Amino acid sequence: MNMGPFDSSRFLGYVSAVSPRGIQIHFPSASLLSRFRHEGIQYPGGNVGEFIVLEGENYGFVARILSLELPDSERKVLSEKAVREENSSFHPIANAELAFSFSMTSPEDMERTISRFPEIGAKVYSCPISFLQSIMSSSNKYLNETMCASLGRIASNGMECSISLDAVFGRHCAVVGTTGSGKSWTVSRLIEALVSKTRNKVIILDPTGEYSSLDENNRVKSYTIGVDCHFPYESLFISDLFYLLRPTAQSQRPILMEAIRSLKTVRIASDSDISKIQSEVEKECLEKLQPQIEKGCLKKHQFEKAEIENFQFIHQNELDGAFCSFDFSCLIRQIKNECVKSQYDPKKWDTFDPKMYDYQTSLIFRVRTLMTTQDFNSVFQFAKVDSKTSNPIPQIIDSFLTATDADILRFDFSQISASFNVRELVANIIAKKLYSDAKAGMFKECPVLMFLDEAHLFLNKNLFDADQTIIPLDAFDLIAKECRKFGLFLCISTQMPRDIPVGTLSQMGTFVVHRLINEQDRKVVETACSSASHTSLSYLPVLGPGEALLSGMDFPIPLLIKIDKPTLPPKSETPRLLQRLEEHGKTNSQPKNES
Ligand SMILES: Nc1ncnc2c1ncn2[C@@H]1O[C@H](COP(=O)(O)OP(=O)(O)O)[C@@H](O)[C@H]1O
Ligand SMILES: [Mg+2]
Repeated sequence: MNMGPFDSSRFLGYVSAVSPRGIQIHFPSASLLSRFRHEGIQYPGGNVGEFIVLEGENYGFVARILSLELPDSERKVLSEKAVREENSSFHPIANAELAFSFSMTSPEDMERTISRFPEIGAKVYSCPISFLQSIMSSSNKYLNETMCASLGRIASNGMECSISLDAVFGRHCAVVGTTGSGKSWTVSRLIEALVSKTRNKVIILDPTGEYSSLDENNRVKSYTIGVDCHFPYESLFISDLFYLLRPTAQSQRPILMEAIRSLKTVRIASDSDISKIQSEVEKECLEKLQPQIEKGCLKKHQFEKAEIENFQFIHQNELDGAFCSFDFSCLIRQIKNECVKSQYDPKKWDTFDPKMYDYQTSLIFRVRTLMTTQDFNSVFQFAKVDSKTSNPIPQIIDSFLTATDADILRFDFSQISASFNVRELVANIIAKKLYSDAKAGMFKECPVLMFLDEAHLFLNKNLFDADQTIIPLDAFDLIAKECRKFGLFLCISTQMPRDIPVGTLSQMGTFVVHRLINEQDRKVVETACSSASHTSLSYLPVLGPGEALLSGMDFPIPLLIKIDKPTLPPKSETPRLLQRLEEHGKTNSQPKNES
């Protein structure tokens, strides 16, 4: 069997016009367009979406048919007579876009270029599936062959689409499309492909709990945030706590910072064992400090500054730590202790300042809210509760990354309340942890993949503090921009690409674009996914569930594929409306108003 792309039995027509925007093909007879069989193999004809090859002198070209039409003169005589009859006298014209060129002597030498175009009169053939397949696999030939996984089938010809996972994930990946277009299923399929072919660890942030179907797999570890896992407030960054407390910049922020510093001092002092301290100076400082501590707080009114400051000076590094390592339950009382009159005495703090304390009312209220609201407590455990059943998230992640019995870690966000931005904050905190792990070089050997479904809920979120200063939640953006080199890859899925920061979206190397109707969203994808031509993007509004345009820097041509059904599809069916069940004969009767 002739495997070469140019075989007279697959001849379709001639190139009749060439421009940078595309090429036009003239078909000598409309009958050439039909699908046909040759030596037992089905060949695509010349229908929209199908691939064709163009014969040149030194180079061949692969192109895709975008539109078909009849010349004006023939439209007038268009009748019921089948256009595609054997002896059809119709001469359709096709517009096609060039995908890439290849060398005639070694077809696997392919290139996307604008420096070569086919000549007028070049012969056009239907592209054999085997040829496309060999090109798809040779495009990944610099990569490990065994890392190719089949994601689905090419829509126009049903060819299995086996692509390199390195090419998909190596530069972050975005799955976009309207609701119900198949994003979550695609994400599941990608995860399955990954787990079956690689030893890499996968972390899923699951906002709706859809992926609980994966729990059937015994290599999946699932945790529901706020139920069986939490993020201990002591592992929060101080800046995260500031998000939650939103102190006003002028009167509350300095007091809060000072209060945190005092409570940290108390923690260090009560953790130090005086009998073990070597340095005499430090011993003395500690001894002087201890009388100032009362019920976990540091007394300040009318006390000597030096007693405390000397001790703080010795422990400067610990005090500057970015985490909330202090007793949160003492914060309200400590805030009161920080309110001192501002007459300046370098040696002593002044007396209690009731006016300044008044300014702290809203801050104190928020601190109290954090401790008394169930939504916050279940997630951050500000008020110490006995938590035998709940595990701290940082530990869960650390042990998962070293575990040999699990490949997938799923965090279920469905039990977190959407109010107070807790959900965004937790996702951001988890991302921040992975970001710092990545930067520390932990994933260089074995990259970690983080999947974020419904990413528009988490990305491009800003919190405003009381002064309307913007506090960005940008850990995902940082990962997208910096972590490729460090082996932390992001796969985001979203129905609203326009809600994703442009900077993040432009870091995505691979796009799986499902049906997109909204004009703005299409524009965003068009800008971000440079390798897909405008014309292939014109398919987007008509794609069915599970159909997607796969485009990426490492793929020779953007492909329209139908993604395979995952073995464990996410639980995402829309609940059906219930039919009214009524006794026979009573249908449509309204309940009678008995008066
Ligand atoms: N690859 C596919 N093959 C067949 N049906 C699919 C496929 N992907 C999605 N569907 C159908 O579409 C529905 C919605 O898919 P889903 O992934 O939940 O959409 P999204 O996450 O974009 O809202 C699924 O319940 C399923 O019936
Ligand atoms: Mg979904």
